[in-house]
Amino acid sequence: MTRRILVTGATGTVGGAVIDLLAGASGLKEIQPLGAARSEDSAERLRKRGLMPVHFDYDSPDTLRPALKGVDALFLATGYSVDMLVHSKRLLDAAKAEGVRHIVHLGALAEEDTPHAHFAWHQMVERVIEAMGFSYTHLRPNFFIDTVWAGFRQRPDRVVHFVGDRKVSWISSDDMAAVAVEALLHPERHAGATYPLAVEALSFGEIAEVLSEITETPVAYRPRPASDLLPITLKQGMEQTYAASLSEGVTAIEAGRMPISGAVYDTVQTVTGRQPIGWRAFAEKRKGELTSAATASAR
Ligand SMILES: NC(=O)c1ccc[n+]([C@@H]2O[C@H](COP(=O)([O-])OP(=O)(O)OC[C@H]3O[C@@H](n4cnc5c(N)ncnc54)[C@H](OP(=O)(O)O)[C@@H]3O)[C@@H](O)[C@H]2O)c1
Repeated sequence: MTRRILVTGATGTVGGAVIDLLAGASGLKEIQPLGAARSEDSAERLRKRGLMPVHFDYDSPDTLRPALKGVDALFLATGYSVDMLVHSKRLLDAAKAEGVRHIVHLGALAEEDTPHAHFAWHQMVERVIEAMGFSYTHLRPNFFIDTVWAGFRQRPDRVVHFVGDRKVSWISSDDMAAVAVEALLHPERHAGATYPLAVEALSFGEIAEVLSEITETPVAYRPRPASDLLPITLKQGMEQTYAASLSEGVTAIEAGRMPISGAVYDTVQTVTGRQPIGWRAFAEKRKGELTSAATASAR
């Protein structure tokens, strides 16, 4: 029997990597990966990658149950907004009603008694998943390499951040996807597990050094005080409750009040059996994007 697996956030950073890997793995005929798409534009982007979209919009609750028909396992990703709470609740209610068995939840790494809202919200979503009786695998990634890389692609002569000289720990979307897909394909092996995901700890100064070596051009680290982050994220359009929490979390890291932010784990090796991707390997693999980005911006 074919197992349907729904990937939410399929046009985003992590969900995108998850569905691509799942589609590759599911040359296996018994797996049918479905990519959540809230608009025709998103659906078309998925089709162009050879993926099967389903209409799914967290803000139109009527779309959730139809998207979950016959779905056996779900990758639950939400965005950078306090709406993640209501979005997660709606999706879990719909998943329960449609008989979904296993949930792989994209959360975030933090101390269990974290005072910071967006980390606490992710932990509360985990508790709801458990209380509702789903089989589950909780992913708790730390800083995404991809997010900083996306900014670096725009300005490949510098990295800007807000945590001073602190070492923080990193994970790529490819490694998150590898762990997620393993849990989606083999729920029986990963049910009840919580996987912190962070494969190396580097300061932004050290990241700038790695990028200088890989690109063979000087890359500077421009540290800015954590207090600068909130107005910047608001200007970029981030929803304000989430932005305020993000800013508080970064302030705590800058001040050394969040020791877990530098922690490293062997979960990627343990779960996938392969070596994880650190900053150096990531930049080496993706450096071709810098030339194409520079060419595009020069046009
Ligand atoms: N960045 C980090 O360093 C970091 C670290 C730890 C944890 N996290 C967690 O990672 C998560 C974000 O993951 P990401 O970076 O992969 O996200 P992302 O790249 O911003 O992607 C968001 C996805 O959600 C979709 N989406 C947005 N609104 C939607 C709606 N109303 N209905 C259906 N889909 C909707 C988007 O679709 P469209 O393409 O249509 O917009 C997109 O596919 C957050 O929960 C965050 O807390 C991030």
